[in-house]
Amino acid sequence: MRLKGKVALISGAASGIGAACARRFIEEGASVVLGDIQIEKGDAAAGALGPNACFIRLDVTSDSDWADAVRLAQSRFGALTTVVNSAGVSIPATIEDETLEGFRRTIGINLDGTFLGCKHGVAALKGGRGGSIVNMASTLGVRAGAIFPAYAASKGGVRLLTRSVALHCAEQGYDIRCNAILPGAIHTEMVDGYIAAGEAAGATRESVIEGFASVHPMKRLGRPSEPAEAAVFLASDESSFTTGADLPVDGGYLA
Ligand SMILES: NC(=O)c1ccc[n+]([C@@H]2O[C@H](COP(=O)([O-])OP(=O)(O)OC[C@H]3O[C@@H](n4cnc5c(N)ncnc54)[C@H](O)[C@@H]3O)[C@@H](O)[C@H]2O)c1
Repeated sequence: MRLKGKVALISGAASGIGAACARRFIEEGASVVLGDIQIEKGDAAAGALGPNACFIRLDVTSDSDWADAVRLAQSRFGALTTVVNSAGVSIPATIEDETLEGFRRTIGINLDGTFLGCKHGVAALKGGRGGSIVNMASTLGVRAGAIFPAYAASKGGVRLLTRSVALHCAEQGYDIRCNAILPGAIHTEMVDGYIAAGEAAGATRESVIEGFASVHPMKRLGRPSEPAEAAVFLASDESSFTTGADLPVDGGYLA
């Protein structure tokens, strides 16, 4: 019950890391609003978590969707204490292949979406009981990859956005912390997309998985529960003096 009494809003909670965060937060005693653009999947995920969870359609690029989601959390469960920004997309394309439209789409969801989550989060937490904002950045926000100019730029942006939010809240004396988690390759639908693309290009499933695993000194893919455990820590009072931090969950990749 490390999150007993917390009220969390989690974006991208229909799938992968966001869904794992929702599950672990409920297990630790929090109430959770799951937000996502995948309505059926999000509804089912929330339904499986019981009465302390509910789903709302949340497009993270929409200011008014964020306002609605915060309002729902507060009317259903009381003052919001926690925002987890996990919604994201990763569409590989080199600088030669990426289009301006594609670049803007990735930045729009990953960076603008996290900006809006932080902005609405600070406003709600400041007016309530304080709390914690957790942003899913990426190891690719530290070490880029040739096929990830948009994704790496978005996640590098999320890391510095996180620090700016943390510094502002500390300077203002708000009881609001803001931290980033930097997952390595975690086996979710995002990575399944890469596995499928590798298979379509003629590689075997095993060889693509092995390729992802081999970049980590621990020589395996991460599980969605692993960044979710880091999110539980950052959302809990156990991390009360931690703000503006990057927390890698990457099998030693950035070491
Ligand atoms: N899986 C990895 O290897 C990995 C590594 C590093 C960072 N991350 C980051 O972790 C986060 C979660 O990724 P995941 O692996 O769970 O991916 P995922 O594809 O399983 O889940 C992402 C979720 O975001 C939702 N989403 C997409 N666009 C949205 C929008 N506009 N508004 C609301 N929701 C939207 C999707 O519907 C999906 O449910 C992402 O920010 C991702 O960049 C993932």
